[in-house]
Amino acid sequence: MTSTKNALLSEVASAIVDTDNKVTVVGVGQVGMAVAFSVLAQGISHDVVLIDCVEDKLQGEMMDLQHGSLFLKNPRINASTDYAASAGSRLCIVTAGVRQREGESRLDLVQRNTDIFKHIIPNLVKYSPNTILLIVSNPVDILTYVAWKLSGLPKNRVIGSGTNLDSSRFRFLMSQRLGVAPGSCHGWIIGEHGDSSVAVWSGVNIAGVRIRDINPVIGTEEDPEKWEDLHKNVVDSAYQVIKLKGYTNWAIGLSAASLAHSILKNSFHIHAVSVHVKGHHEIEQDVFLSLPAVLGGNGVTNIVNQCLTEAERQKLLKSASLLEEIQKNLKL
Ligand code: LAC
Repeated sequence: MTSTKNALLSEVASAIVDTDNKVTVVGVGQVGMAVAFSVLAQGISHDVVLIDCVEDKLQGEMMDLQHGSLFLKNPRINASTDYAASAGSRLCIVTAGVRQREGESRLDLVQRNTDIFKHIIPNLVKYSPNTILLIVSNPVDILTYVAWKLSGLPKNRVIGSGTNLDSSRFRFLMSQRLGVAPGSCHGWIIGEHGDSSVAVWSGVNIAGVRIRDINPVIGTEEDPEKWEDLHKNVVDSAYQVIKLKGYTNWAIGLSAASLAHSILKNSFHIHAVSVHVKGHHEIEQDVFLSLPAVLGGNGVTNIVNQCLTEAERQKLLKSASLLEEIQKNLKL
């Protein structure tokens, strides 16, 4: 007997099932789900796979998202504990691992998350050898280095979410002070995504007007207006939010989605992301830190050579030494 489906639909050609914008999100904790939701809600990808080792939570998150398919323009949302489901991903976003508890710094998590990465990264690359890896788990700069080492991928295809979020926080805080939208407040936080990040005060500008030309001591201890408090606030942001709600997720989810957008749409937008920085600003260590970088379908295509002041460059060099010190003791 003909099925109802066959009676209703006459096949003209077989359907194409593969898409060219498949995104895998590893880890369905608060951050992973904020990333997945942002990617889907903004239509950045219509093909998202969730991977985690906790089966029930994974299935629950998948179903909950699938039930919103009508409002998400019918995406494909799958989930599995088996990495085979991630095969053919253009982008794999890694959010798995332990997260900071109150009072812990991002760097405190390093060996625990490195051990978790030893399982995740080879599996992702096995099923998607052409993928770009976007690392979000903390400490993000060191784990991006770890992912680069474990994956064997070229450095343009291993990126850390880095200070894209710190820069967003900075621009939000500037916007609050000036009454100008964050998109029109231009400022960059570079270096470590964490306690030693560097605010590039020398380049902060509104409509091309360099704030330093108006206030030459901006960002220094001598500044009576204490603009450096904005950067202190950026560094303190995650600690504040963790104290209040236990974790951060929405801003990092949106931040990672903005990176996914530039990569999948081959847009060549510039973001502060964690990249291999050896040779830039005379950094000698084999480390990943955030610098403004052009992102497209091939990952990082260019790194911007910012004109840093000597003081800014010295801070960057300090972060590089700090990270190398920790990397040296890692068991990879
Ligand atoms: C934060 C986490 C993602 O800064 O490190 O919110």
